[in-house]
Amino acid sequence: MISVKNLGYTYMIGTPFEKTALKNISFEVAEGEVLAIAGHTGSGKSTLIQLVAGLIDLTGGSIEIDGLKVTDKKIRRLIGIVFQYPEQQLFEETVESDIAFAPKNFGLSEEEISARVNEAMRQVGLSDELKKVSPFELSGGQRRRVAIAGILALKPKYLILDEPTAGLDPLAKENLLSEIFGAIKKSGVTIILVSHNMDDIARFADRVIVLAHGEILFNGKPRDLFAREEILTCAGLEPPPVTKLIHALGIDKIVLTLDEAEKIISKP
Ligand SMILES: Nc1ncnc2c1ncn2[C@@H]1O[C@H](COP(=O)(O)OP(=O)(O)OP(=O)(O)O)[C@@H](O)[C@H]1O
Ligand SMILES: [Mg+2]
Repeated sequence: MISVKNLGYTYMIGTPFEKTALKNISFEVAEGEVLAIAGHTGSGKSTLIQLVAGLIDLTGGSIEIDGLKVTDKKIRRLIGIVFQYPEQQLFEETVESDIAFAPKNFGLSEEEISARVNEAMRQVGLSDELKKVSPFELSGGQRRRVAIAGILALKPKYLILDEPTAGLDPLAKENLLSEIFGAIKKSGVTIILVSHNMDDIARFADRVIVLAHGEILFNGKPRDLFAREEILTCAGLEPPPVTKLIHALGIDKIVLTLDEAEKIISKP
């Protein structure tokens, strides 16, 4: 379990550029849960996940992961983080060696590394033939899968994804999440998904935290969020198109997916 209490964060304390990015943040993430973090640009999402992953030092409050303080080096093995545009960090000559890079640094055996590379490639939907290909010959969507596989190969207990579909074309976007989310979830990993995309949140998140100006505006189920227009407006967010459509048809139900909408509309 991840437990965040009274977290605050200020950049460049004591300088004229001092900037408070987070205020009074408390929440928990249970094992196996998919928690989405939403909010407009600059609301503090990336700052929050960097703190949770122990990548920047706390300036106020506390974070515990499985009872360990976030400053404890042991948490590094528990958390995998996929940054925004992770494919920019690919640099090995082949897909296989790129995915194997971090597990190698963990000092695992060749056999274990090879098994992890195979499993991670399967989870992100990359076929075996791509192993010996240079990542730079792949499409943007495939490169992103390679980068995500590199983190999955570490077998983190907690996986943090910062805007995993940002900058992909609509088809690649749709394919990436619908194909990989099921496989990743099945492995039992706990996921924190940072996203602007309400459609992704509606389909994949168990719970959503909405940040605005560094504070939590909402913490609950996506379905309950989309019923709270005042919160969405305040956070500069919009419900998914399918939710808006059903509302516009005068149907007093909050739907999250096309399937749900179809069922409601086709009812006699
Ligand atoms: N390294 C930094 N130094 C100073 N201020 C920063 C730094 N990084 C972020 N900030 C500021 O902290 C606030 C929160 O930024 P953060 O990157 O966490 O937002 P975000 O929600 O991830 O935004 P986006 O959706 O654009 O990725 C913003 O006002 C930002 O300008
Ligand atoms: Mg960000």
